[in-house]
Amino acid sequence: MGIKDRVAIVTGSGQGIGEGIARSLAGAGAAVVLNDIDEQRVSALSDEMKAAGFEACYYVGDISTKDGAAGLAECARDNYSRLDILVNNAGIARDKWLVKMTEEDWDEVIRINLKSQFLCTQAGVSQMMEANYGRIVNIGSRAWLGGPGQANYSASKGGVVSFTRTLALEFAKYQITANAVAPGLVDSPLFRSLSQENQERLTKTVPVGRIGGPDDIGHAVAFFADDDSWYITGQVLYVCGGRSVGAY
Ligand SMILES: NC(=O)c1ccc[n+]([C@@H]2O[C@H](COP(=O)([O-])OP(=O)(O)OC[C@H]3O[C@@H](n4cnc5c(N)ncnc54)[C@H](O)[C@@H]3O)[C@@H](O)[C@H]2O)c1
Repeated sequence: MGIKDRVAIVTGSGQGIGEGIARSLAGAGAAVVLNDIDEQRVSALSDEMKAAGFEACYYVGDISTKDGAAGLAECARDNYSRLDILVNNAGIARDKWLVKMTEEDWDEVIRINLKSQFLCTQAGVSQMMEANYGRIVNIGSRAWLGGPGQANYSASKGGVVSFTRTLALEFAKYQITANAVAPGLVDSPLFRSLSQENQERLTKTVPVGRIGGPDDIGHAVAFFADDDSWYITGQVLYVCGGRSVGAY
């Protein structure tokens, strides 16, 4: 794939989907700047990847803050002198019925799922503009279509779609593409935090009959990140075993 020797940031890559994306990009030859708020997880992953011969470093920080986002972009510049691929992956869920949802539940999800993408893109895109090259891949969710108990989460992921489409238009003249990957159900600590009953109920709704893995999302991100994907921008790619097509 045309990713070799590119420099990529993956936010929230200490575990789950972000970790899968980092492994996919590194496996395709990119240098990866890992990030998480959990230092232990992200440093262990960085050590493991380096021991396996991959190029990696990490930055510990909350990317939903301006300082955290700026620190992460600087980490790419300090270690590799540039940034080619930005994967805005970090996200959380605080599912509740609307009548029980607190203002904090709303603000927290919008801040981490959507505002962080704005801050990290604003912090990193200047390096891409200087090089007249870039690949921005935002992790959304099939849930942007709407999901009971997910007013905050669905709205944040709907925002990711609109944000991505706008980035595509604003940065096209710099040869920077912006696309979104919308996962369905993916085996990660976030998914496993649901009750066993909910996990089984949801899995039955996937047309292909099983949930995906972090590497399935990594595969889609690597596609958008490829040099050869230069003519694809502003798009949303569902990676959800057919679940976006309709209820099953
Ligand atoms: N797992 C699924 O089924 C699923 C489905 C659709 C979309 N997604 C999306 O995929 C992305 C990753 O989800 P996941 O399932 O791997 O979740 P996860 O909870 O397993 O992992 C998320 C990682 O992000 C980190 N993180 C959280 N807030 C952060 C912050 N402010 N700064 C830096 N790091 C932070 C966490 O510490 C954690 O390591 C999210 O955007 C999520 O909305 C997941």
